[in-house]
Amino acid sequence: MASQHHDKPLPAEHLDLIQSIAAIAPAEEQDSMTQRLRFNLPFLRERLRCLYGSTADFGNWLEGLLIDLAKIHALRSRDLRALDSARLAEPGWFLSQNMLAYSAYVDRFAGTLPGVQQRIPHLKSLGVTYLHLLPFLRAREHLNDGGFAVASYEETEPALGTMEDLEDLTATLRESGISLCSDLVLNHVADTHVWAMAAKAGSAKHRAYFHCLSKEAAEDYAATLGEIFPETAPGNFTYVPEVDAHVWTTFYPYQWDLNYGNREVFAEMACILLRLANRGIEAFRLDSAAFLWKRLGTNSMNQPEAHWILQAFRAITDIFAPGVLLKAEAIVPTRDLPPYLGQDDALGRECHLAYQSSLMAAAWLSLATENASLACKIIADTPHLPPRTSWLTYVRCHDDIGWNVLKPEFTDGDISALQAASRFFAGAGESYAEGASFQALDPRSVHGTNGMTSALTGFARAKGPEAERQARQRMSLLYGLVLAVGGIPMIYMGDETAQGNDPTPQEHWPAGADGRQLHRPQFDDRRLLEAHSGTASAGAAHAALRRLIGLRQLCPAMAAAVPTRLVPLENPGLLAFMRGPRLCCVFNFTSAPQTVDLNSLSDDRRLGNCHDLVSGATCQATLTLAPWDFAWLQAAPALV
Ligand code: GLC
Repeated sequence: MASQHHDKPLPAEHLDLIQSIAAIAPAEEQDSMTQRLRFNLPFLRERLRCLYGSTADFGNWLEGLLIDLAKIHALRSRDLRALDSARLAEPGWFLSQNMLAYSAYVDRFAGTLPGVQQRIPHLKSLGVTYLHLLPFLRAREHLNDGGFAVASYEETEPALGTMEDLEDLTATLRESGISLCSDLVLNHVADTHVWAMAAKAGSAKHRAYFHCLSKEAAEDYAATLGEIFPETAPGNFTYVPEVDAHVWTTFYPYQWDLNYGNREVFAEMACILLRLANRGIEAFRLDSAAFLWKRLGTNSMNQPEAHWILQAFRAITDIFAPGVLLKAEAIVPTRDLPPYLGQDDALGRECHLAYQSSLMAAAWLSLATENASLACKIIADTPHLPPRTSWLTYVRCHDDIGWNVLKPEFTDGDISALQAASRFFAGAGESYAEGASFQALDPRSVHGTNGMTSALTGFARAKGPEAERQARQRMSLLYGLVLAVGGIPMIYMGDETAQGNDPTPQEHWPAGADGRQLHRPQFDDRRLLEAHSGTASAGAAHAALRRLIGLRQLCPAMAAAVPTRLVPLENPGLLAFMRGPRLCCVFNFTSAPQTVDLNSLSDDRRLGNCHDLVSGATCQATLTLAPWDFAWLQAAPALV
């Protein structure tokens, strides 16, 4: 983002509005608030005008919204406002090579929100600075898609604790140098949320919060839509007798999509975001961000209006909670990803972070096929990011590895490589993996793969120390990639001890669980003990990961802002990229040793004589990587 100082003259109506909004802020913050408004208000107004400018009395509506938001901001604690100031003074604070994310379900990781406090020493020992706790707000009872069907944004899930527990946790984490990231499920609410209940009870106002369509209209839209859960929740609409309409339900039938064409929905969600930010949440994972706007004749993903909505939320956080980060959960093909970080006139004005989902899937594909070409292509096609934005890079998360994001890369429509990868990770043939295909009844299609990293890389099936060493090597390869490629790397709960799939037999899975349950086990404390005593497979995996994290922290070229540039190599089993001018990372995705001519890695001859940070070896002229091995090569400093 450009400087917050804004010297362009503003129209008189803006100046009046800025003055009246800034006057609501605590006295000592009014100057800074005025500056933030001067910079962000014209942009916010423009975006909201594009979305809602044709609605009645737009100007008064906007003013009313800003006053509501300013009043929420006025309740923001002194500590959080101090955090805002610190972050305004250092807006790139989240780009350092010390940033490390961790993602976990509260109940599985620690039982309750207070229980998470007991895990802080563990997180600190890994170097975690950003903790994404999966949904902890009050969810629909019984079936709730792992908490992603939110019944109330104002309460926590009772079994996990109270809002006070949440505030205590965010404060303790902050003291420990860890930012709490929460999901903001903004595309849909549970059918038991008060808005849905009111719609069912006949409230016209609340009916208009949702997409309630006739059968014919729903069919017209459906003609061009994809399906997220083709087996467990086919279709995109659910007939709801109480509203006598086909309600848009992209995910499960009990998750009702919100209608962002209705400005009240936007206003409600903006207030929810700020109220949660006031609880101490420092980052929001904007769930299902790609789906916010629907358009007939399209797949209703990545629409320009969805970006305007995100940009408007960003402007609002930049004004009223400037210490807060927004992260797009947009699991979309590579070409559709960069706009979530802001482009053109919105450069750097959308989300701060976005999941690098296509590289994640391509890395797994490379492992299965022993061919890294697609991962190379994705790195080559990924544009340099706008200032003060970053990827969230990851190996696994709580969702399946979604192969769909890679489909557009196969321009001839031949997705057999993806199908083969899906079968491979499901354990077919000679595979070392022990995962499962997700939503895979249609043999002509390919959807996703479930399983913990350790199961997919071969720990579970490893018979003997050599097979286990190879599994560990594959796991290190993937983590070596996400730690080095640029962004905030994320560890998925349990990966730090190479924990395997959920051992619970399927018939005992929680009600409504789908195949993703496989990689949502209870955190295994026994493995953590083993990890700390350095014994068994957990000890070796934990030590290997911690070592890589430590090396990364010492290497400024790993910081997110340092450019990543693909180094094209003739050998398709290898992936190589430069981080800045002196660090070259090379990965062998094959089961055979591979040799690289170091001089081919860069025009800069200094790489011909370099030091591998990972092995500690000095390399001259050539580098031979063992099966699934990798190197982070640091060139000698220039002599002049
Ligand atoms: C996101 C979540 C996923 C959930 C879906 C619907 O994609 O990651 O777990 O099922 O949104 O909320």
